[in-house]
Amino acid sequence: MEAKRSQKAPSDGITCDPSEDATTRQSEPEWAKFYYFSGDLRPALLSPKRAVPSSIRRPDYADDRRGVSMSEQRDKANNKAIRVYGTEELDAEYGLRHACAMGREVLDLGGKALRPGVTTDEIDRVVHEACIERDCYPSPLNYYNFPKSVCTSVNEVICHGIPDYREVQDGDIVNIDVTTFNRGGYHGDLNETFCVGNVDEDGQKLVRTAFDCLKESLAMVKPGTLYRDLGTKIHKTAKASGCTVNRSYCGHGIGSLFHTAPNIPHYHKNKAKGIMKPGHVFTVEPMINLGVPGDQTWNDHWTAVTTDGKRSAQFEHTVLVTEDGCEILTARDAEPVMCWNQELNYR
Ligand code: MF3
Ligand code: CO
Ligand code: CO
Repeated sequence: MEAKRSQKAPSDGITCDPSEDATTRQSEPEWAKFYYFSGDLRPALLSPKRAVPSSIRRPDYADDRRGVSMSEQRDKANNKAIRVYGTEELDAEYGLRHACAMGREVLDLGGKALRPGVTTDEIDRVVHEACIERDCYPSPLNYYNFPKSVCTSVNEVICHGIPDYREVQDGDIVNIDVTTFNRGGYHGDLNETFCVGNVDEDGQKLVRTAFDCLKESLAMVKPGTLYRDLGTKIHKTAKASGCTVNRSYCGHGIGSLFHTAPNIPHYHKNKAKGIMKPGHVFTVEPMINLGVPGDQTWNDHWTAVTTDGKRSAQFEHTVLVTEDGCEILTARDAEPVMCWNQELNYR
């Protein structure tokens, strides 16, 4: 008979302790053994759930067993109108502007941590701690049971990639999508795609095209613009570079709620409702693909990948409609219009 060793909790086939060896940490979760992957990327195991100190204000879904946001569900059922934010809500010490500024700082720190060999779980740790240091809750954590504090989407992942023990490879493109929830109860949402090491020309073109799609569409944001017209601009910009636009995931109103009206498709000939007015706050976040526009979801129920396994890139900002145009609430310092900076998105 074998002596009983001090045993760790039995594996659930998804998570593993950071003290396990690298081979174990990087092994596939149970579900992946029966899943047909469209591309080369594979999931690794997840680290244990990260805690948020009780001193930090939590959104309603943080403590729901299924991660449901009752406030969002109520909003969806009762309210089709687009909320208008006033100066008080925007400019208060912990107003919407502050939430967006914190999101910007956190994304910059997450991006700085990115390099070949780092795990996306380490990016999650950096983002998680940066949120807490800024008195913010990392909005993704437990949102409809999303298990981590940030989305990290590598290569053919379109969006909602879950940080895990996989090490980032030289040549990867990696999107980091940060959302912060501040003491005032506001969310700020932004993302960027980074080129790690030697990314091939197609990859670089894709990332630059995704950037241009966001930049060009934001140039249209002003009172009177129809929400449905952003998709036309994005479609044309992507098509001019031989790229396609994903149709399943959309930009969204944001503020007291993570996702609310308006819904903003990124593709042409969409039927989105609504016309921009001063005080509207929303995201634009086009997902641009090298191959077909379609997506499928891994059996982790989150990771959206391209159906042909080709790469996808994305940029996102939270913006405010002003009297005469648009203010990018999640902009880099002193960058009122988006400005491509080779160094900033290369690792
Ligand atoms: N930040 C994403 C967005 O841009 C949403 C992530 S939801 C999560 O809308 F649950 F996946 F984190
Ligand atoms: Co968003
Ligand atoms: Co986002």
